[in-house]
Amino acid sequence: MVKKKACVFISGSGTNLKALINNSRNYNFPINISYIVSNTKKAKGLKYGKLYGIPCDIINLNNKLKFEMFINKLKNKNISLICLAGYMKILSKSFISRFKKKILNIHPSLLPKYKGLDTFNRVLKSKDKITGCTIHYVNEKLDSGKIILQKKVLIESKDNIQKLKFKVQKQEYRAYSEAIYKIFAN
Ligand code: GAR
Repeated sequence: MVKKKACVFISGSGTNLKALINNSRNYNFPINISYIVSNTKKAKGLKYGKLYGIPCDIINLNNKLKFEMFINKLKNKNISLICLAGYMKILSKSFISRFKKKILNIHPSLLPKYKGLDTFNRVLKSKDKITGCTIHYVNEKLDSGKIILQKKVLIESKDNIQKLKFKVQKQEYRAYSEAIYKIFAN
């Protein structure tokens, strides 16, 4: 099977990146993670690049020249899917328009609820009984693109931020790969 090439954007610990890399090694998985990008060299997830032998770059998309060079690099690498996995920068409209319908994001809530940051804290302060995670296409509006897949998680009275995050992320690791299977099956 000829796999498409994907790039994962991270800013932090990269546990979703790790799950994607592991799942991408399955024969039937439609993509290969062939490039990792972070907006900061402090991202712990960059270690997975070394571990799995995947090239990594630290990027600053605010610089116009670097922006164009980066777009060219993605095109030269034949990247046909960009997966945001804990990438904490907002992508510019011009970047998004260059990769229309080719950028996915994972968010730790059942969108359209709790867009933006500090999600677990806001969920716990609510009276909600259920939360979860969402994989969606990225458009110009924050956390608002078409939803591909969601997974639900029960909120229990014993939950704090850490416990809830653990439960939601456990679902995230399956959700992202299932969403990718889903979009390539169509
Ligand atoms: C994930 O839980 C993801 O849903 C969240 O950041 C975490 C990254 O963890 N994304 C957002 O909050 C986006 N607004 P990871 O770096 O260990 O994959």
